[in-house]
Amino acid sequence: MQKVTIDFPKIEQDNKLVTLANTAYKKIITKTGEGSNFLGWVDLPLKTEKNSLKEIQNTATDFKKNKDFIVVVGIGGSYLGAKAIIDALSDNFSNLKQEKTTKIIFAGQNLNPDYLSDLINLLKNKSFGIVVISKSGTTTEPAIAFRLLYNLLKQKYNKIEIKNRIIAITDKEKGSLRELANQENFKTFIIPDDIGGRFSVLTPVGLLPISLAGFDIFKIIDGAKNIATELLNNTQSAAVKYAQIRNYLYNNGKTVEILVNYNPKLNSFAEWWKQLFGESEGKNQKGIFPASVIFTTDLHSLGQYIQDGKKQIFETIISIEKPNNDITIPKNKKDSDNLNYLSEKKISYINKMAELGTYTAHKNGEIPIIKINIPQINEYNIGQLIYFFEFSCAISAYMLGVNPFNQPGVEEYKKNMFKLLNKPGF
Ligand code: PA5
Repeated sequence: MQKVTIDFPKIEQDNKLVTLANTAYKKIITKTGEGSNFLGWVDLPLKTEKNSLKEIQNTATDFKKNKDFIVVVGIGGSYLGAKAIIDALSDNFSNLKQEKTTKIIFAGQNLNPDYLSDLINLLKNKSFGIVVISKSGTTTEPAIAFRLLYNLLKQKYNKIEIKNRIIAITDKEKGSLRELANQENFKTFIIPDDIGGRFSVLTPVGLLPISLAGFDIFKIIDGAKNIATELLNNTQSAAVKYAQIRNYLYNNGKTVEILVNYNPKLNSFAEWWKQLFGESEGKNQKGIFPASVIFTTDLHSLGQYIQDGKKQIFETIISIEKPNNDITIPKNKKDSDNLNYLSEKKISYINKMAELGTYTAHKNGEIPIIKINIPQINEYNIGQLIYFFEFSCAISAYMLGVNPFNQPGVEEYKKNMFKLLNKPGF
């Protein structure tokens, strides 16, 4: 069992915050806070049965057969979690490799005509399947992408073949996608009523695409279960502390949190994290703005602002102890590039020294730093990390005095867009 550990900055003792954190924690455990009918994710890893994981895994194995591509269609919480975990666990260049494996691609996460045209061009002479994911079953972006891709399937295949090429993940009874799935007899998985989009990655929403990409969903749930057991039985856990420190920093003018990584594979993980915290906390004119950087890449861009700009930032580093692969810098006789001082050193060591050097620079620059130490990127540890952030996010939002589980602000753009598009009823 690999343990995730966290280093926190020292803050003044603030009893009010401790009480607030305890109250928030209790709201989750006793299901008495606002939006408590959306707490199904809390004991999900503890309740997930091996049989249901087996069913997802078997479906994935069958569904992949004879397909070059599987398009996972969804947006927001019906997209980001699967993408986060798949990218974290994949080879950086897996989709460019010629190997004969089924490739996973995503759609329905934008309304861009170039994206959709390129996608259709890519797929029109290929064998592909669709996993369409929408809890409400009515979201415009995935609905449009699905209509286009479903039409493409209809041009290529008969009804029986199409049925083998579509899986819908949606509500058990509501929404247009559910109606269509029932009508056309698509294979479906249900998104539980009490789990909202951004907390749904450990349901079939995330698990089916992850399994399709070839990763071990049993280990992901195992990691989540392990940390859930710890967090649900400890009022002073690291998740409570993380929420407490975030709120302390926020009250002291640190209104931007950046999630820092030194591994580009965690880029999508940062996108998932931003949605989780941004959509859960940013309401009633409150909330920390979640941002992210990949170092050392962004040390050559945003690094300047972080070190020297307005003092509104604190950072949370995801520090990976051991890489999955490593390379040694070769010695060069002539040393014309002046790099021989690094010869025989591993890239992981150099990356670590960049991390340490940046840590010290930022600390000296009075940037508060939280550091989450992950032994290695693998299914088990990603499972732990997902649950850790979900749990701490809910506590943090309750501490802030907002409902973590709604997103009223998202409706504004939709209303205007629908009005402009003459959608009936708007
Ligand atoms: O977290 C959320 O609830 C949202 O981001 C939703 O996941 C997103 O809007 C997509 O909704 P749906 O799954 O209903 O298509």
